[in-house]
Amino acid sequence: MSDRYAVIGNPIEHSRSPQIHAAFAAQTGEDMVYERILGDPENFEADVRAFVTAGGRGLNVTVPFKERAFRLADSLAERARTAGAVNTLIVGEGRLHGDNTDGAGLVRDLGCNHLFDFAGARVLLLGAGGAVRGVLRPLLDEKPGRLVIANRTASKALALAEGTLGPVFGCGLDQLGGQRFDLVINGTAAGLVGSVPIIPDDCLADGGWTYDMLYGKEPTAFVLWGRAHGAARALDGLGMLVEQAAESFCLWRGVQPDTAPVIASLRTG
Ligand code: ATR
Repeated sequence: MSDRYAVIGNPIEHSRSPQIHAAFAAQTGEDMVYERILGDPENFEADVRAFVTAGGRGLNVTVPFKERAFRLADSLAERARTAGAVNTLIVGEGRLHGDNTDGAGLVRDLGCNHLFDFAGARVLLLGAGGAVRGVLRPLLDEKPGRLVIANRTASKALALAEGTLGPVFGCGLDQLGGQRFDLVINGTAAGLVGSVPIIPDDCLADGGWTYDMLYGKEPTAFVLWGRAHGAARALDGLGMLVEQAAESFCLWRGVQPDTAPVIASLRTG
């Protein structure tokens, strides 16, 4: 029988993860199936246990369960501990190991697929929720010169920066005047309602890039913001989605899939 994996979230019907993992499995010849599970907010932990009892080997965890998966895991990877969230569960001898591949996905998409040079770069990270917490440490590991976390509610950005080692500073969105950045990453939920966080028109340095952690069939609101404000590249999060999936796949199967054809087919499909 094929090894079983799944993504659990709520809602879940629009998740592209089954398609991505099916493509990885076909490409690498791994004998596995990958399903969608609609998690019950009242019973997330029981849903995970039931999957494990039925022989499940691993789960991806998505909104709104990443923090609960973090609490449920019997052991944690360091990057999941710093994120305070788990997007990948690995089942071993009935125990759950929690990891977080979101930050690696972002860094790999920007650094490997698009050749952004992080070293010494001035990076602005917008938001201070789970999406930002998940990528903060892996971003700092790329040794940017300066990383500013700016959030609508300044106190959350300040608290996040204070609890993080490195050249990291927190402030409100309204405190960015006069600063220039080589990369502006949107990790806010503003795009879910088609809007963008309000930031100065001139915060992008000459040749600066924008990156939206969201993606969509049409260019996202923040991709449009980047284009309108002269970004050298205005990227969305499709590559990050595929790269975080590849990292999870590798944790489960020990094989690194080739992401380029999968990104290309999702882009056109
Ligand atoms: P997630 O886990 O997806 O990051 P979250 O924890 O609810 O979700 O955080 C959402 C983030 O988007 C927060 O940083 C939020 O700002 P506040 O902390 O001030 O609420 C930010 N956000 C949501 N809507 C926004 C908007 N319209 N403009 C700017 N920031 C927004």
